[in-house]
Amino acid sequence: MTVLTDEMKDVLHKNNKKFIAVPMATASKEGVPNVAPMASVWVRDDATLWICDNFMKKTLHNLQENPIAAFYFWDADTKRCFQVKGHAGIHTSGPEYEEMYGMVKKERPSFPAKSLIVVTITAVYDCTPGANAGAQLQ
Ligand SMILES: Cc1cc2nc3c(=O)[nH]c(=O)nc-3n(C[C@H](O)[C@H](O)[C@H](O)COP(=O)(O)O)c2cc1C
Repeated sequence: MTVLTDEMKDVLHKNNKKFIAVPMATASKEGVPNVAPMASVWVRDDATLWICDNFMKKTLHNLQENPIAAFYFWDADTKRCFQVKGHAGIHTSGPEYEEMYGMVKKERPSFPAKSLIVVTITAVYDCTPGANAGAQLQ
């Protein structure tokens, strides 16, 4: 199982607090890339990210035909940066979807929260500029 370390989770939690968007990359079946900003990105557990699909179009279409995604999280204070890759599942019902829907509606009642993207992390790389850039960490 590929897991996030405390340092990696801290970067994402800091972004969450400041409502800083995380770039989410996907690709079509033919390999056409797409990247979009996502702020509703949470660490669900050490090996799983949750993303709320409010307005996804190409992102969602890509995940339907090619269920993989990549992200990076950057901390402006420490300059630490992590690149995360994973398999993405789309949930539009069930207890996990209902939990996410409740969380989003509480904070942002006008947001549709139309699906929950569950990303099972498969790899984490260092993307902090320097000697270790590009190295696989997890
Ligand atoms: C700062 C910021 C945060 C965003 N957060 C989310 C989000 O958490 N979920 C979402 O579905 N859309 C979010 N969006 C909107 C999407 O990025 C936007 O709908 C984009 O067009 C999606 O890309 P796509 O159409 O290629 O799928 C956010 C946009 C910005 C600027």
